[in-house]
Amino acid sequence: MSELHSNSVRGAQPVLLHHDVDGIREFDNPLPGWWTAIFWATIVYALLYPMYYHWGIGPTVLTELDSSMTEAAEAQLAKLGPMQVDESTIVALGSEPKKLLIGRAMFRTNCAVCHGADGGGAVGPNLCDDSYINIKAPMDFFTVIRAGVVAKGMPAWSPRYNDTQILLLAGYVASLRGSTPSTPKPPQGDQHPPAWSTFKSDALPVTPTVAPSKL
Ligand code: HEC
Repeated sequence: MSELHSNSVRGAQPVLLHHDVDGIREFDNPLPGWWTAIFWATIVYALLYPMYYHWGIGPTVLTELDSSMTEAAEAQLAKLGPMQVDESTIVALGSEPKKLLIGRAMFRTNCAVCHGADGGGAVGPNLCDDSYINIKAPMDFFTVIRAGVVAKGMPAWSPRYNDTQILLLAGYVASLRGSTPSTPKPPQGDQHPPAWSTFKSDALPVTPTVAPSKL
């Protein structure tokens, strides 16, 4: 009986532990291989997880969220159909929060690296104040984003995005005006009167709360 239940490998004989509880004795059996393997795997995983997600090797949870939002936004765009490329479309976007959210998702994934996640500016200019280098009217957002200002480091986005997507970006960037970024870069270029002051990116939820399927 005892040989049948012991898989101890210490010597030929099964090894009995010293304690005895009401006559019940216990074999010193090694832990099953599959159990030990899972145990070590959890330790390795616990080390790799923070290295990947918290020490900058992989994307942060927020970056992943932004890329998923962008993917979802791009999928929604296919359903949206083309939009008229003119100033009234860009101005009208200011009162369409769902479309502004699509623009914001694209902005955070592609533009935040140079303009800051909240548009406060970094390598690129602050997009939240009343001063612009290349913008005089809402339509200029479209033109500048589409063609870029390549000589000054602003890439052209026409190879990556179609006109409808660029309109959404333009509407979102226009809506940044008048918002309060965390670390604003000093104004550059010329100050403009608040001609498109109806835009309110501040009115958007701070974190995306609209499920991609609802956009
Ligand atoms: C590699 C850095 C970089 C990236 C990425 C970038 N920009 Fe820019 N952007 C710049 C720079 C630099 C300027 C200033 C150009 C100049 O001095 O004329 C600029 C200017 C602009 C302007 C005009 C601002 C003004 O004051 O004239 C807009 C609008 C703009 N970017 C929108 C965007 C959008 C939208 C995206 C993402 C789709 C984006 N940018 C991505 C660097 C960047």
